[in-house]
Amino acid sequence: PATTYVKAGHLFDSEAGAYRQNVVLVLAGDRIQSVESSSFAIPTGAKVVDLSNDYVLPGLIDCHTHLGARADKYDPINSFKETPFTSAYASVVNAKRTLDAGFTSVRDVGSLPFMAVDLRNAINEGLLPGPRIVASGPPLSITGGHGDLNNYSPQTRVTMFPEERDFSIADGPEQIRQTIRAQAKYGVDVVKILASGGVLSKGDQPGAPQYTFEELKMAADTAHATGRKIAAHAHGTQSIKDAINAGIDSIEHASLVDDEGIRLAKAHGTYFVMDIYDDDYILGKAKDFGIQEEMLAKERSVGKLQRENFRKAFEAGVKMAFGTDAGVYPHGDNAKQFHYMVMYGMTPAQAIQAATRNAADLIGRASDVGVLSPGHYADLIALKEDPLQRVEVLEHVPFVMKGGVIAKNELAAK
Ligand code: ARG
Repeated sequence: PATTYVKAGHLFDSEAGAYRQNVVLVLAGDRIQSVESSSFAIPTGAKVVDLSNDYVLPGLIDCHTHLGARADKYDPINSFKETPFTSAYASVVNAKRTLDAGFTSVRDVGSLPFMAVDLRNAINEGLLPGPRIVASGPPLSITGGHGDLNNYSPQTRVTMFPEERDFSIADGPEQIRQTIRAQAKYGVDVVKILASGGVLSKGDQPGAPQYTFEELKMAADTAHATGRKIAAHAHGTQSIKDAINAGIDSIEHASLVDDEGIRLAKAHGTYFVMDIYDDDYILGKAKDFGIQEEMLAKERSVGKLQRENFRKAFEAGVKMAFGTDAGVYPHGDNAKQFHYMVMYGMTPAQAIQAATRNAADLIGRASDVGVLSPGHYADLIALKEDPLQRVEVLEHVPFVMKGGVIAKNELAAK
């Protein structure tokens, strides 16, 4: 493989949470071969990427995206007018925006069957630009739950019946086991289950349990038996605890966690993925795009508490991985969440670690991404300004490299 030398002025070590000054990354093809000091003699005529005046970080990782979703369509009636291609086309645009924003890996936790799997494959084949994707299928939901289409006339039969094999609606341990096995058959990397109610759905409550402990346990055991991790959407206090006790790997949202939930998460090593930017967008711009009052009311009931509980959980020592629910707000704005993570208790370095090393660990790719050390992919971003001084500079990433290939470079223009 071809050798490239990347001169990095300030290289963020995501293990240590601090910079190393003036290093040379030696790349062999798409991977890092070695990390050398500035005294390293780069052979004359070699291919050099000069970031010697810049802040160089591992490519960012978002553990909670929906690449097929659009943040300018909040009217649920839209879903009856769409074909699977509607979200597939959107996902092509969204994948590029995500990569251009400096996110070189994402975990997609809920798309139409099996859009994210196909998108992952198309990107890996080099057909489309986009981040590395750890793909789930559609989220598992109870009948009438957060993932179902609720409160329409039963004559329309818009409920996604399990006998139509939609790979999503599953009630009881047996259907859950079958659905997860079917998802594995069609190539998902990870399983997503909707443990409690949610905000952006009709006829349910974020705080109310949907799956029982027994069902969550079957889900976790089945996912793990297929060699996959499992993420649970859980806003509700009881569902968070049930999901942790069931052995689920990450709690998404975790809005209404209590002290016992925090204690359990620490004891089990469960990650929290808390999307604490979304409240701004839902209570702001989403109103222009047809969001219903029912959903706004639910958001008002969880948004602020979620941010306060983010601080509580982090300060108590719960493992935190960066995840934003991209698609609720426009793809490409993922880094807007860093501001809130720092406002609610993290240092900029800790917030960046949540989006690099911790995220890589949660998505099961710690040996490939999240750290710029030998053997890892050459996935990196570069900035003119220091994000440890002002984390918001991550909202405009001028330089992105994925697998040793420059995906975006606006450094020269600055
Ligand atoms: N997908 C989530 C739900 O509908 C979004 C929650 C966003 N709100 C928040 N405060 N994080 O439940």
